[in-house]
Amino acid sequence: MTTSGPGQTYGGSTVGSEPTFQSTVDDSREATVASVLSEDQTKKLVTDIAEDLSVFDGIVERAQAIIARYPQSRSALLPMLHLVQSVQGYVSQAGIQFCAAQLELAAAEVSAVATFYTMYKRKPCGEHLVSVCTNTLCAALGGDSIYAKLREHLGEPGKPLGHEETVGTPGEPGSITIEHAECLAACDLGPVVQVNYEFYDNQTPEKTVELVDALRRGEKPAPTRGAPLTDFKDVSLQLAGFFERESDVDGPSQATETLAGAQLAQDRGWTAPVMPANVAFPDLEKK
Ligand code: FES
Repeated sequence: MTTSGPGQTYGGSTVGSEPTFQSTVDDSREATVASVLSEDQTKKLVTDIAEDLSVFDGIVERAQAIIARYPQSRSALLPMLHLVQSVQGYVSQAGIQFCAAQLELAAAEVSAVATFYTMYKRKPCGEHLVSVCTNTLCAALGGDSIYAKLREHLGEPGKPLGHEETVGTPGEPGSITIEHAECLAACDLGPVVQVNYEFYDNQTPEKTVELVDALRRGEKPAPTRGAPLTDFKDVSLQLAGFFERESDVDGPSQATETLAGAQLAQDRGWTAPVMPANVAFPDLEKK
C-alpha cells in the first residue's frame, strides 16, 4: 500500500489528483451515494474525497500498527480517530478521509462515529482541554459555579467563553478549550475538573481559576491522580495506544475517598458472601 501525499493512493482511494468516485473501497456503496445526491452535494463530496492527506504521512506506520491489533480492520476506528486527533488537535475532514482509506470504510461511516463521541473534537482544540463536570452530583457540589466562573474568567467582558470554545490560538502554547462534561466517574471526589482527561479533584472556583492561569503561563500543575499532565495532542496519542515515555503511565491511580468503603469493611471484618461457581439463570417468562 502506498501511503503518501497528494496524487498517491491510500488504501485504494485516489487522493489529491483528479476527483473521482473510483475509491475501489466499495464501488457499489459510493454509486448508491452518488445516485441520491444532488449535483452540488456530489461536487462537495468529490471535493472532500480530494482532501490532501499528506499531513498524516508521519502516522501511517502507527495507523498500520493499530489496525494489526484487530482481526477486522474496521474495529480499529476508535484508536485511529485518536491518532489523527494527535496530529491536528481535532478530527478534520482530512482525518476522516485518512481513517476511511486506511480502514476501507466509507467517509460517511467514519464521520458518523467521529460526530457521535464527544472525545473527538470537530474544531481545532487548545493546547489543553479543560473539562468541568456539571453532572448532578458535581453540579450540586459546585461544578456549575466552577464552570460559570471559568467561562467568565477566560472570556471577554460581557462575552463568557462557551462550550468547546478556545481562549488563545488553538494548538498554540497556553491556549485552552473549555467544555462542560457529563459524569467523569469521580463523584466521590466532586466537584472534579479534568485537564486533557487527567483529574483535579475537590475543586472550587478559585482553585480552578488558579489551575487555568497556570496553564496559560505554560505550567503543568500535577494532577491529583494519574499520569503527569501533558497536552491534548499528546494525550490523544496515548489514547491511540502509544506511550512515548515511561512516565506517561506513572502516578497514583486511587484516592483515599474511593477506598473508604473497602477500608471500613476491612477494619470491621465485613466480607461479601462468596458467589457460587455455577448459578443457573432464572427461567424467563414467555411473552
Ligand atoms: S457527577 Fe461529577 S464525577 Fe460524577
